[in-house]
Amino acid sequence: MYTRSRSWVLTCPGPRIQSVCRAGRRPHGRRGQGSGTVRDAFRDGSRPNQLPTQSPPSNSLDGLIYLRPNPPRRASGPSSPSIEESEVQSEVQVEAGHTAPADSEALRLVVRLRSREADGVVALVLADAEGAELPEWEPGAHVDVCLSGFTRQYSLCGDPSDRHHYRLGVLLEPAGRGGSQLIHEILYPGSAVTVRPPRNHFPFAVADDYLFIAGGIGLTPLLPMIARAEAEGRRWRLVYGGRTRASMAFLGELAAYGDKVQVVPQDEHGLLELTDLLAVPGERHVYCCGPEPLIEAVERLCAGWPPGRLHVERFTARAADGEDEQTAFEVECAESGVTVTVPPGQSMLDALLAAGVDLNYDCREGTCGTCELDLLEGLADHRDAVLSSEERNAGELIFPCVSRARSDRLVVDA
Ligand code: FES
Repeated sequence: MYTRSRSWVLTCPGPRIQSVCRAGRRPHGRRGQGSGTVRDAFRDGSRPNQLPTQSPPSNSLDGLIYLRPNPPRRASGPSSPSIEESEVQSEVQVEAGHTAPADSEALRLVVRLRSREADGVVALVLADAEGAELPEWEPGAHVDVCLSGFTRQYSLCGDPSDRHHYRLGVLLEPAGRGGSQLIHEILYPGSAVTVRPPRNHFPFAVADDYLFIAGGIGLTPLLPMIARAEAEGRRWRLVYGGRTRASMAFLGELAAYGDKVQVVPQDEHGLLELTDLLAVPGERHVYCCGPEPLIEAVERLCAGWPPGRLHVERFTARAADGEDEQTAFEVECAESGVTVTVPPGQSMLDALLAAGVDLNYDCREGTCGTCELDLLEGLADHRDAVLSSEERNAGELIFPCVSRARSDRLVVDA
């Protein structure tokens, strides 16, 4: 979901192995327990099932959608979104003149289709209001959806060869921060919405054999990968877990793949059994997206695998280490010449901003990738959900909104 595509390969030790990805975006559940089995509810399962509002709001959306003032610094057809399933064919035409035009790359799009894909999950198909082609993307990419006061990242789950549509799958999270709720409430066919061009922190590697592991809404970035693997005649298999069958999105599409897809609703079959699945590395590449307990379980089981075989995408940044949080460190900005001390309890981003350093940022959670800085010297304590294990080990980048230092001093390119 950002233009900084690299080849990510990782190894999996530790709490967050091979993120061949970056791009977290959504909140998730709790930490997992047990090995080989995800003992926690799926992200979508920990929340009450709640159907989205079925009719468009009566109020105008004017002024509700706008861009954040800090654009990405290095910014870096849908698989036929079942039109027949469209739940609302409203003609609510909203003024496409979103506000906040600070981001010259921003795309002013219109919702063309909204379909209900599962309990609490809607798919939105977006297109340019004038029918223009949209920027290209590859499987694993996401876009930033810019709404009133915040930005959220959503994986593109349509067809990359369709240059006129982006499809997103949005899980309603009543206990979230409000982004998904707003999307569910206000975005209907005809609604205007601003998104930033696709970025990809979860690139799809060429391989002959894939194992896809999805938990809940974590299926979305995997859908285009599956379609590509199928189109290219690769071996692949999907294991898809969710709390209940009714909560699992896109089952209709997946049915076309027959027995390559294993659907595992927790209330029918219990938890995903991963141990046997991941016992032998073979030549497979594993792509996993879902709640943190699922990813942690997969990482544990793949810890001895050859580097580069496991690719994960997280919804949230890594948990902070309380002790490190209490440690002050110094940051020197090579470009501006500013040097600041980051005290305990303050983020590096805030310290640099307070010192007048001009930085781009957005989520402040280590998930969007916007605040990325080149790390020139020092050891980082990476806490973002963007960098892969290899990138963390390389020590060349840092996300100052959440990451800190393992050395007394860092030098960054700012
Ligand atoms: S990763 Fe989003 S602002 Fe830092």
